Amino acid sequence: MTDLLLTGISQLVTAPGPGPRRGSAMGILNITRDAAIAINAGTIAWLGPRSEWSGQVKETIDLGGCAVLPGLVDPHTHAVWAGDRLADFEAHSAGVAYEEILSAGGGIWHTIRQTADKTSEETAALALPRIEALIRSGATTIEVKSGYGYTPEAELRMLEAIKLLAARTRARLVPTLLIHICPEERRAREEYRDRICSELIPEAARRELAVAVDIFVEHHAWNAEDAAIILGCARSHGLDIKLHTEQFQRIGGLELGLRLGALSIDHLEVCSPEQCRAVAASSTIAVILPGVSLHLGLAAAPGRALIDAGAAVAVGTDLNPGSSPVFATAVAMALSVRLNGLTAQEALTAATVNAAAALGRPEAGRLEIGLPVDLIVLEGPDWRDLPYTLGKNMVREVWLAGRRQNV
Ligand code: NIG
Ligand code: FE
Repeated sequence: MTDLLLTGISQLVTAPGPGPRRGSAMGILNITRDAAIAINAGTIAWLGPRSEWSGQVKETIDLGGCAVLPGLVDPHTHAVWAGDRLADFEAHSAGVAYEEILSAGGGIWHTIRQTADKTSEETAALALPRIEALIRSGATTIEVKSGYGYTPEAELRMLEAIKLLAARTRARLVPTLLIHICPEERRAREEYRDRICSELIPEAARRELAVAVDIFVEHHAWNAEDAAIILGCARSHGLDIKLHTEQFQRIGGLELGLRLGALSIDHLEVCSPEQCRAVAASSTIAVILPGVSLHLGLAAAPGRALIDAGAAVAVGTDLNPGSSPVFATAVAMALSVRLNGLTAQEALTAATVNAAAALGRPEAGRLEIGLPVDLIVLEGPDWRDLPYTLGKNMVREVWLAGRRQNV
């Protein structure tokens, strides 16, 4: 006898998985009308057209004719920070560029000063409501980066905060060690790099506090040469690698990521047509972050050109205080249609199976027999309301491992 049957599902919509789906395949979705899902011990026991269900159930819940989708996957957040960036927001809106604020010692440096001396308990407490906001918007698997610690000790405290968070939410959190910014001066930078390689990465790997290492490759951050050493170290400790790259400048980060077989390269606002083709020819996932384009008024990453070239594109919020105060994964997905030229179908693929592939979690973002029941129920019958609607949450219910969450 099956535990539970969900009925009254107007549309059951999934991107065929496991991902990644590339190029034109990103536009193909499976849509089952008048569907049902049978659940046993938090796992999908059966799903299909309601008329084809013939088993026995202990309980039935009628969802009342609403669309059901897999829980979204947010593949890129910096949800742990202290303080705020409201002064930056004001300066930026008065015409001061993000990079200018950063090079003057503000921006990310400001958030590091606010965050680095906090305990993991303190930063976890600040981050929990942000994670809950992402869940309310439909995310059930969420990547969370460190990166505002700066010293090995403070970065480890940030990773400990992510571990605390993971124990306080039913969402599945994926921890990443972000090597964010560095001293400008060469000797100081090399010393920091060497501590990262001899202390921070080995300790994070040994304590299983991170599954991947990410690095910010930009003029006011790391160069490609130092990044190659740090990412090589990450690899040698069995960690996946990711890069924040081609956000403002092209200084070799994208090529480094492709050469090293990075799991994902993220941002790509200034990715050229030739680079789009190189990404498409690789197994690396291109993660686009339209919240940054909206908030900083920058050019958007060429999502359309990447997909047309045959790349696998994922989308995330990049939730952080400086470049993307976007607390809703569904909004990032909706913005990718407006700003990056994705179709609604491609945006759902980008926010589910491709985002899962960008995290090395191919089971996430899917609804199939044997997988956990991580799903969302929308307010209405048509799934397109999710990428269409701005400013109203169209997610009525979030289910995690077969349990309805309070959202
Ligand atoms: O993904 N660009 C680098 N890092 C973050 C921003 C962090 C911040 O501004 O605090 C990003 O945009
Ligand atoms: Fe980021």
